[in-house]
Amino acid sequence: MGLGYSLLVRPFLALMDSEKAHRRAILGLRITSFTVFGRMLLRVLYRPRNVESETFGMNFSNPLGLAAGMDKKAEAMRGWETLGFGFIEVGGITEHEQDGNPKPRMFRSSKHDALINRMGFNNPGSAKMALHLSKCRKPSIPLFLNVGKSKVTSLEDAHLDYAKTVELCGPYVDGFVINVSSPNTPNLRELQKDEDLARIIEAVQEHSGDKPVLVKIAPDLEDMQIKSIVDTSRSLGCAGIVATNTTISRPDESPIMSENGGLSGRPLKSRSTEVIRLIADHTDGNWPIIGVGGIANSEDAWEKIANGASLIQIYSSMVFNGASVIKDIVNGLDRKLKSKGLTNLHEAIGIARGD
Ligand SMILES: Cc1cc2nc3c(=O)[nH]c(=O)nc-3n(C[C@H](O)[C@H](O)[C@H](O)COP(=O)(O)O)c2cc1C
Repeated sequence: MGLGYSLLVRPFLALMDSEKAHRRAILGLRITSFTVFGRMLLRVLYRPRNVESETFGMNFSNPLGLAAGMDKKAEAMRGWETLGFGFIEVGGITEHEQDGNPKPRMFRSSKHDALINRMGFNNPGSAKMALHLSKCRKPSIPLFLNVGKSKVTSLEDAHLDYAKTVELCGPYVDGFVINVSSPNTPNLRELQKDEDLARIIEAVQEHSGDKPVLVKIAPDLEDMQIKSIVDTSRSLGCAGIVATNTTISRPDESPIMSENGGLSGRPLKSRSTEVIRLIADHTDGNWPIIGVGGIANSEDAWEKIANGASLIQIYSSMVFNGASVIKDIVNGLDRKLKSKGLTNLHEAIGIARGD
């Protein structure tokens, strides 16, 4: 963590309502990355080395991406790119605009380095998002769109909701993540069942062209269910999987842990890695996995990659450690590759499985 961040920013953020702090951080990044001078400053302070890789037929300057939910409305894409992320996932976006759940709906536990959120897909809806994306400069790094289901849409019509968002926003992004794993839209996770998932994937594929479509899963599923989702998604031609979303389980009974919603950060780390390993073993390491959940340093990142993740993402550790975590993770991975005598990231993927 940057010393400046831990001394100056973190104590203030700790006093502030979590969502307000989040909005200010995004605004700050947007403003800083607006000018050439600001971007130069961000590069000097934060930009990591290149750790190149190729997945989904795309080139990544490094395997670390911004996880969904941090920049729901794609407001600071240039900022994330300048900070040195290898790719960005914006959203979740639903067909219809919605406010999400009543506030407060985002909670921090510094004791656990964890967040609990029950945002409920607050987002501008696919038509406004498409208009916004059409006016933005497209980042030079791969851009994925996280797609959810509107609360007003029934489970029977869910596939139409997902498909509409992909149809409208599709031209402006490089790939799609079907989110059937948020715990904060009633019954959404039921859509992880085979027939429902298949219907959604097929409807999305009518509009996705040859861009990769991935499925994002929950960590709270049984192993059998996970394998079944993998088989369904893979057989229908999905490009890979994002593992995992937030968990509804809790590490202990401290008061903050009684808040409803999805838990992310350190307590999610080992379960997320377990799910990644399960999927990598089930697919013999032949199907790309984006690993996400509790990554806060290069050791955590290495563990995800060594167990089968081709790419990785972070959300919570950005909140607790600031933007310097990007450089820490990517430069640490670079050092790790070199110390093990590996020449590229590809050689590290699944290395703990003996791939
Ligand atoms: C406030 C908040 C909002 C989120 N919104 C979304 C979302 O819209 N779609 C999604 O797929 N995941 C969402 N996530 C989950 C993250 O993308 C990620 O899977 C999870 O936080 C685990 O990563 P982490 O431990 O690095 O935070 C959200 C997480 C947080 C904390």
